[in-house]
Amino acid sequence: MDGARLTRRGLLVGIGAAGGAGAMYAAMGALGLAPGEQDKAFTPPRKGDFSLQGRAAAKVVILGAGVAGLVAAYELGKAGYDCTLLEARAEAGGRNLTLRGGDRLTELNGPAQAVTFGQGSYFNAGPARIAPWMVTLDYCRELGIPIETFVNRSAQAYVHTNGRTMRSGTARADMYGYIAELLAKATNAGALNRKVTKGDQEVLLDFLRRFGDLGPRLEYEGSGRRGFVKYPTLDAGTPLTPPGTLHQVLAAGTGRAITNDFGYDQATPMFQPVGGMDAIVNRLVEAVGADRITTGARVTGITDQADGVEVSWDGGRIKADYCVATLPPHLLAKIPHNLGEPVTAALRRPVPVAAGKIGLEYGSRWWETDDRIYGGVTETDLDITHIWYPSHDYHAERGIVVGYYNTDQHAELYGALTPEDRRRRALTQGKKIHGEKYRTGVLSSVSIAWERQEHIQGGWVRWPDFDSSFTLLQRPAGRVYFAGDWLTRLIAWQAGAMESARGAVTQLHQRVLRSP
Ligand code: ALA
Repeated sequence: MDGARLTRRGLLVGIGAAGGAGAMYAAMGALGLAPGEQDKAFTPPRKGDFSLQGRAAAKVVILGAGVAGLVAAYELGKAGYDCTLLEARAEAGGRNLTLRGGDRLTELNGPAQAVTFGQGSYFNAGPARIAPWMVTLDYCRELGIPIETFVNRSAQAYVHTNGRTMRSGTARADMYGYIAELLAKATNAGALNRKVTKGDQEVLLDFLRRFGDLGPRLEYEGSGRRGFVKYPTLDAGTPLTPPGTLHQVLAAGTGRAITNDFGYDQATPMFQPVGGMDAIVNRLVEAVGADRITTGARVTGITDQADGVEVSWDGGRIKADYCVATLPPHLLAKIPHNLGEPVTAALRRPVPVAAGKIGLEYGSRWWETDDRIYGGVTETDLDITHIWYPSHDYHAERGIVVGYYNTDQHAELYGALTPEDRRRRALTQGKKIHGEKYRTGVLSSVSIAWERQEHIQGGWVRWPDFDSSFTLLQRPAGRVYFAGDWLTRLIAWQAGAMESARGAVTQLHQRVLRSP
């Protein structure tokens, strides 16, 4: 091991002596030693990095003022880089889009929607939840954005599968109960003796009794965990009818619906900025300086040159020392450039995924008063996939329910409809769970089909595999760096955009500091 390290270091020193810092840096990259590849904490560029070396900060043109572009500008700005952002859409933010009354949502080949939500109501049409381990929360802290809990799992929300609706807590209790019973009986009958030692059996049985709330004979008979018709007060309450048989519980098909939040990125608790996800965009724009962002600027060409990068857009041309391109890969691939065919081919690899949501505003919060649902998600096997209840402004007069959040073919199906038909369909589906009030109580709605959003054209992307195309784009092509959630294993998360921006910033800054 030591020998290998010495050889590597010797090689790098040799390359550095012969080819300068740039060559050494390139070699470090090839060896996987360059920043961004190592798992180390991010250090933002600082003004002092330059004053110590007597260098000037470089000029950087950033393509796209979504979360990746804004974070790149924000971090580079800390060291005094002169950043210009070109944004094709009318506003910064990209997919971080919060809609409020007075907004207008246009889409490709579709009618515009006027948003008429009441004062104070908002709908996070893009990202809407943040896991505690994500860098997104660090930016909320740093930018002074208050956060609150996003309820991602609620025993009170429903599971609607195979035409039946039940509380998620009931579905979980029954499934866990029967699994525990089966496993406990198998253990007791010695069926697992080759895997489970005698001593472990005790531990396992003790856990299974708790996990399934099993009776003394290791039977699952249902329990208070399932919920009640009337909850205990002065009396013991009225229990639900007993659980179905194992066969009936399995036939209910609740499997996916009760495991949706098991993932490391969906586990409770999750968080959201108070007042709307776009607080992240607004604070970043303030910090970067709105005057650095040109909106309505569609990039038409990228030319990497010996001494800089020239970017043309439909309103002009700009020359900078470096470029950070954060557009969606499938759109970037279509822009004429001289970065080479392998770059174009790599940009074409990720496949855009359709994703859609509808915000339904109601004049009363019946899900709280009638259903006793405070935040959380109802999981369904319908084409709406999920219904989300708001995790904020509890007990307010109005509220916005997310009436569908779907992807792939379900999203394409809804996206192809007119906004009125999307709403009609979403209400017909939701009525199966919530009854007539779901349809009659709606005041207004707005729906988004991300694959039809101009200059975005997808909810996110899916790589066929994380192959050499993926790693190729994690490195600069000449003076052009790439960034976006699509270049990380955190696709469809703002955290991915942020981490990727940090990676590009680190590489770019190191290069500037090392350049002769
Ligand atoms: N990040 C997206 C979500 O939470 C995929 O639904």
